[in-house]
Amino acid sequence: MGLKHRNRWALLLALMMALMGVNAAVGEESVTAYEAYLAGGEAPSLAQRYEGLFTIGVATSPEVLRDERAAALIAANFNSLTCENQMKADAVLDRSASVRGGDNTRAKLNFSKAGPVLSFAQEHGMKVRAHTLVWHSQTPRWFFAENWSNLPSAPLVDRATMLQRMENYIRDEMEYVNSHYPGVVYAWDVVNEAIDPGMGHPNGLRTEGNLWYDVIGEDYVEWAFTFARMYAQPDQKLFYNDYNCTQFMKIGYLSTLLRTLHDKGVLDGLGMQSHLGIDSPTVSEYENALTQYARIGITIHVTELDIGTADNTPLGQMKLAYRYRSLLARLEMLKTRGGYDIGNVTVWGLRDDQSWLNSPAEKKYPLLFDKDYRCKPAFFGALQDASIPLTSNEAKLQEAVEKLGLDKLNGQEGASVNVYKTLNQHNPVMVQRFGADPWAMVYGDRVYLYMTGDEPVMGIDGVPRTNDYSNITTLRVLSSDDLVNWQDHGSVAAAGKNGAAKWAANSWAPCAAWKTIDGKDKFFLYFANSGGGIGVLTADSPTGPFTDPLGKALVSRATPTCALVTWLFDPAVLVDDDGSAYLYFGGGIPNGKAEDPGTARVVKLGSDMISLDGDPVAINPPWLFEDSGINKIGDTYVYSYCSNFNVPSSGSAQGFQSGEIVYMTSDSPMGPFAYGGRVLQNPSVYFGVGGNNHHCMFEFKGQYYITYHAATVDKAMGWGAGYRSTFIDVLNLNEQGLPALSKGTYEGVEQLKAFDPYQTVPAATLASLAGAETALVNEADKTAGTGDMLVRSTAPGGWIGIAGVDFSQDGASGLKLTWISEESAKIEILLDSLESDPIAAIDLPAAGEARSELFALPETVTGTHDLYFRFTQPNVSLLSWQFFSPLQGQ
Ligand code: XIL
Repeated sequence: MGLKHRNRWALLLALMMALMGVNAAVGEESVTAYEAYLAGGEAPSLAQRYEGLFTIGVATSPEVLRDERAAALIAANFNSLTCENQMKADAVLDRSASVRGGDNTRAKLNFSKAGPVLSFAQEHGMKVRAHTLVWHSQTPRWFFAENWSNLPSAPLVDRATMLQRMENYIRDEMEYVNSHYPGVVYAWDVVNEAIDPGMGHPNGLRTEGNLWYDVIGEDYVEWAFTFARMYAQPDQKLFYNDYNCTQFMKIGYLSTLLRTLHDKGVLDGLGMQSHLGIDSPTVSEYENALTQYARIGITIHVTELDIGTADNTPLGQMKLAYRYRSLLARLEMLKTRGGYDIGNVTVWGLRDDQSWLNSPAEKKYPLLFDKDYRCKPAFFGALQDASIPLTSNEAKLQEAVEKLGLDKLNGQEGASVNVYKTLNQHNPVMVQRFGADPWAMVYGDRVYLYMTGDEPVMGIDGVPRTNDYSNITTLRVLSSDDLVNWQDHGSVAAAGKNGAAKWAANSWAPCAAWKTIDGKDKFFLYFANSGGGIGVLTADSPTGPFTDPLGKALVSRATPTCALVTWLFDPAVLVDDDGSAYLYFGGGIPNGKAEDPGTARVVKLGSDMISLDGDPVAINPPWLFEDSGINKIGDTYVYSYCSNFNVPSSGSAQGFQSGEIVYMTSDSPMGPFAYGGRVLQNPSVYFGVGGNNHHCMFEFKGQYYITYHAATVDKAMGWGAGYRSTFIDVLNLNEQGLPALSKGTYEGVEQLKAFDPYQTVPAATLASLAGAETALVNEADKTAGTGDMLVRSTAPGGWIGIAGVDFSQDGASGLKLTWISEESAKIEILLDSLESDPIAAIDLPAAGEARSELFALPETVTGTHDLYFRFTQPNVSLLSWQFFSPLQGQ
């Protein structure tokens, strides 16, 4: 056991003593908050640390707050919120309502974007900095144009009209916010970024690209503050907000402006945005500037703090932590000893991956939390924790890195492997590949998911091209009996020259069913040949191999009533209680018919499931887009679908929005169907990534679930190219037992049963992986449908994780592995956390072909744990694993 391990035990011991109220001194050192956190303890609250000194804020958005883990972090650490974008003019001003409103001096406002943030603050007893009223940026040109025209050439209004517009806008916004969210807003950023010394104006005003200046003139700043003072609540403070506040020229111009406005009684404070660099300005430069402003007698808020760095190494992040620590220490000192009126420090974003400083070209790591919601060294720097050195000396910073074991931690977590899903998250179901349009089929005690095989297309520049679905010829198959650990069955080669249905160019949006025919269970997989027809594949097992029994489409444009269906796709299948089966499909909007496209169809299937029994009949779902779904709940037939994107923003007559999953009901499988209700909002609502949606509702072991997709992994990879991943969540039911509005989450569903490690487990059965891929054991299986899959490491530190594994009381003392590796390799076994010490490190001899061996474990493993297999090098393939208990015959 090395020194590090002994340190770790000392830490744990000290932590336990601290928790037990025993004096925490062990030897000469006491446990810092960071050390306690790394040993598994809770992090302290940032807001509490500065209680009584200044409020601690974070810039956020409804999308971030909808993520429960983010919301919990925010509630624990902050007591002030800023809308990162939702209270800017472009989010608040409602052009179509303004045009309809007919008053050329009074724009209509809309707070639906800001609402969730304001409500969150209200519910959690937090305060809000309202950002921002008057700004040259993120303010639409039509707000300055005659009759709210959005034509680029539309004439702008005169100064008098614009001053009226400004007054109405400021009054209406303040009145709305103060009446709907009384007491929530404590600070208004009245004017943002009006000074730019580089433009040559004698008072340093921003004269270019600034329509406020163009239309009203230099005094627009003062007018804004005058109106704001008129309509703000007496206890609300009015701020001027700006960046580069430490720049020599800016200090001069800013001081003059602030002093003038303060003397007139219309301004209370300066918001120093504080988008800082990793080396500059120095904390002393910052203090000097702040001192000049504080001397005016105004309040200072640090409104948009982030410290730009692209260095995510432990040392780079320790340096960042030092910057945060020294800045916060200086602010605290200025407040307590210098008597400066510093009222708030706000960080501009929660997690690194959400920072506005990121660009496609470069990832930045400037904030207090990482993409996995973990507190970074910078968090403990902001807390002024003793574990962060108060020096820029690199050797000292490196020492701190080593003392905390951050170098080790980083190696283990694999700085080199990107983690897109932790084991606490049960969504998306698969991160090793993309998979969309999920259909769930229950067979035996397992759920099988069939998905469109979204396959990234890379440009020659190495940048992924936007998913246009045109190359998709496979269908992904997963199965699970606990809904958290999924076995990867690979992909069915469905269409194209290597697919079962060679006549079809594409395989999209599958659905599946099974039926006992002549005493044998038969499986049917229906898919869309892009928007031009529906094919069917059959098999003797749910995972194939699948073949095409017809050699042509089952439904085509030649099928009666189908010639004019815009998109002949997206099948859904129902096998009714009496054994008769029905296929639902169609979508798309004939010109001008968005409200009633009339392009959905239902047809009875022949008893062989591969023929039609009669002609398709129209269904008339309001605002249909695509994505048919079908369920029978009790005696009610529930037809569900995705609404199109032409629904007015005020909602449809039925009360749903664009791109939502909604449903209709009927007492007959063939209809007619009547509108029933909403099921799922657009993924943009839950995950901040929009696009189409596609769902399936199903029952499994007495509970209803919904599967759907969202391009979250694609977004997390920094692609934004529309490649989709599948999710599963609980489906809510109303009092009638019919679907009710449900919620998309990263947490997903609860694991239905403990995982049994005492069976031969195909290695491609997992809750998540990183730095690893799944692949066919035999490449030859490729054309035959799915085949046995293995897991292969692609990077040092790659891993697979299996959730909730029950080793039972007797425990496991042996482990049988089957692997392939050209070189000798090592597999580490870890329990519960990738940061824990491995319970075993197993040396695997080189094996050019699959080789199995039983290994003794250094200690018996009992109880229930998350289980990880971690590879120390790439190109090691694991085919299967199985634990043995001491009592088992081995
Ligand atoms: C930024 C947001 O963070 C981005 O999401 C948005 O695209 C552009 O604006 N100064 C400000 C903030 O006052 O409003 C800006 O916020 C960052 C610079």
